[in-house]
Amino acid sequence: MRKKLVFAAVFSLVMVFAVGAFGQKSSSAQKGGANGNISCVNCHKTLGGELAKPVAEWTGSVHQQNGITCDMCHGGDPAAATMDKAMSKDHGFIGAPHGQAQFDACSKCHPTEVAMYSKSVMGKAYLEGKGGPSCAKCHGPHHNVIPQVPQLCKSCHKDTTGFDQVDPMNVTDATVQMLSKMKIKLGIQKAAGPRPGIIPKVSQDLDPYKIGLIAFGGAIFVFILGYFIYLILEKRD
Ligand code: HEC
Ligand code: HEC
Ligand code: HEC
Ligand code: HEC
Ligand code: HEC
Repeated sequence: MRKKLVFAAVFSLVMVFAVGAFGQKSSSAQKGGANGNISCVNCHKTLGGELAKPVAEWTGSVHQQNGITCDMCHGGDPAAATMDKAMSKDHGFIGAPHGQAQFDACSKCHPTEVAMYSKSVMGKAYLEGKGGPSCAKCHGPHHNVIPQVPQLCKSCHKDTTGFDQVDPMNVTDATVQMLSKMKIKLGIQKAAGPRPGIIPKVSQDLDPYKIGLIAFGGAIFVFILGYFIYLILEKRD
């Protein structure tokens, strides 16, 4: 009787999980199907290598889940089946966007972020070809995510002190000043270095009572040491 009850309980639990998992899978498949059935995706996923990678990365991304399809960033005609028509300049196809073209592509939906980044130290360094990161460098080209700070930054910056306190999309002259002040402060602390080990470090907030106690302890220690030396010397004689 007991065994049957336990079996029934376990069985129904397993069923609930199985149905739940299956339901989730089919609903996400439906989501993929809704915007995944366009010529860009259908053709590119068959191409392999670098040309198919965007489809794999985009599937399940925040953009795919919000119905943002290939053509919204690249232009072109997602209803046309042939390559020439789908990727024709007449239909606004821009290829892989770099430089200002990338900012323009993202700006259609993220105008505030693009305007901010364009004016920032790194945004300018990117547009002027001086090694600043593109949007895709930090967020990924097709599986757009919020990057890990400062791990990602280390690919270009040796010293990432204070990077957890800056907005990477809005690095300005003020940010640079704030960081250099922080580094100078840390530099001074480092230069001071650890105190020599023989002289005990006396904390500045010691009160007279504690200092007395330490002095008393020291005196007893010296006394005991002296006593032992006295004993040893006496034995020698
Ligand atoms: C019938 C197949 C086919 C269709 C449909 C198709 N592509 Fe392509 N696509 C290709 C092939 C093949 C290449 C590589 C050769 C080339 O660049 O001409 C390519 C290249 C690209 C590139 C890279 C170009 C570059 O400058 O590096 C992008 C971006 C791109 N496709 C986006 C799209 C988008 C967006 C759509 C839908 C509007 C689309 N494709 C539809 C086959 C296709
Ligand atoms: C959110 C905007 C966005 C969407 C949506 C998007 N792309 Fe891209 N794609 C880019 C950017 C930006 C680049 C340039 C990558 C870089 O600079 O590293 C790129 C590059 C490419 C390239 C060139 C090869 C490469 O990986 O650099 C191909 C091919 C491509 N995309 C195809 C597609 C296809 C197919 C889709 C739809 C499944 C798609 N893209 C959806 C923004 C997008
Ligand atoms: C056609 C509109 C559209 C375009 C073009 C577009 N995005 Fe988005 N993006 C969205 C929507 C919608 C979301 C999800 C809702 C939100 O967070 O605002 C989103 C979210 C994001 C996020 C947040 C991811 C997260 O995990 O919170 C990033 C980062 C992002 N986009 C980067 C880009 C970049 C980089 C480009 C250009 C290469 C781009 N987007 C182009 C519509 C767009
Ligand atoms: C140096 C790395 C870096 C670059 C380059 C960069 N971003 Fe970001 N972005 C971040 C980080 C980190 C965050 C999250 C912290 C924050 O909200 O400020 C973020 C946040 C965002 C968000 C908001 C997500 C949300 O939900 O609030 C969007 C959209 C976005 N970026 C788009 C872009 C676009 C478009 C570009 C190019 C014009 C770009 N980013 C360039 C690092 C970067
Ligand atoms: C692709 C390389 C690249 C990546 C990745 C990158 N940066 Fe930068 N960063 C630069 C360049 C180039 C400059 C401009 C240097 C100049 O003009 O003096 C710069 C300047 C800065 C500055 C201005 C002061 C300084 O320390 O040089 C800060 C702050 C900064 N980046 C923060 C970040 C943060 C935070 C991240 C990660 C989220 C990041 N960067 C990722 C290339 C990069």
